[in-house]
Amino acid sequence: MVKAVECRDVWMVYRTFMEKDTVALRGVNLDVEDGIIFGLLGPNGAGKTTLISILATILIPTRGEVRVLGMDAFKNTRKVRERINISSGVRMPWGMKVYECLRFYAMCYGITGRKVVEDVISEFELEEHRNKRFDDLSTGNKQKANLARAFLNNPEVVFLDEPTANLDPDMAKKIREMILRIKEERDITIVLTTHNMKEAELLCDRIAFIKDGKIAAEGTSEELKRYTKMSERIILKVRGDVSRLSFPYPFRLDGNSLTVFVEDAEKALPSIVIKLAEQGINVESAKMEEITLEDVFIELAEGS
Ligand SMILES: Nc1ncnc2c1ncn2[C@@H]1O[C@H](COP(=O)(O)OP(=O)(O)OP(=O)(O)O)[C@@H](O)[C@H]1O
Ligand SMILES: [Mg+2]
Repeated sequence: MVKAVECRDVWMVYRTFMEKDTVALRGVNLDVEDGIIFGLLGPNGAGKTTLISILATILIPTRGEVRVLGMDAFKNTRKVRERINISSGVRMPWGMKVYECLRFYAMCYGITGRKVVEDVISEFELEEHRNKRFDDLSTGNKQKANLARAFLNNPEVVFLDEPTANLDPDMAKKIREMILRIKEERDITIVLTTHNMKEAELLCDRIAFIKDGKIAAEGTSEELKRYTKMSERIILKVRGDVSRLSFPYPFRLDGNSLTVFVEDAEKALPSIVIKLAEQGINVESAKMEEITLEDVFIELAEGS
């Protein structure tokens, strides 16, 4: 089966005249199977937008090979572009109305009939906004219009750069539901970037953590949770001076909330309470949980 995306040893160096070069990607290798939602997750400046732009043939990497739907992305760029699309940011030009914008972009793909435009308008629930100027829409509806645009050419692979950035939680949820529904209905591959762990967990079949231009880990969210040795966490409300806390387990402090990462929470809890008591710290409450994707993310983002 042809993979939706393959990328081998991809490097990207941004060269500027006045400042030092920025190495945005350092040898990225990635395989995206056909028919899945694949998430690129990472902190600011990790290289997510750079990578997704390269995969969508918008940027040419400094080095490396990218294949999309089995084709060399930079030797067969035209052919690749016919079968993919990207939605990045919430922009449309010239203060046009939603319908006009979509019709214009459809024409760029040689689609002259109205049906395709009407279909995406209804698919992305834009009926009541079709005659509004794009600039006058709420951020959520702008995002919907941008997504609609990315589906005009009936793409097999769609790249979405931060599809829920700057949206309120309700609208973000709506957009996520829309992405899931459309992925199923159209039976396509989606590659998206996100900062939001929950979003990655909800939407993505596989997730790659990207940090400093490298893939730090890749897998399903369950696999990633197993990636760290510690599989459970204990959240303790503590009282006392925690500024010089020393501990045999990895931990995170946030005010008087102490999160300790352990292999087996039930087994570890008594010794943790004793260790804290020895340092004059009392435990007011303790809660045991499985680790979250966020814990893995923080560990990977902080680790070297
Ligand atoms: N056009 C450019 N010229 C020079 N440097 C750039 C350019 N675009 C990005 N960079 C740099 O490359 C690195 C990766 O940026 P990129 O935008 O790909 O990261 P990101 O993971 O998408 O970040 P964010 O989460 O903030 O969107 C950063 O250090 C950034 O400053
Ligand atoms: Mg970005």
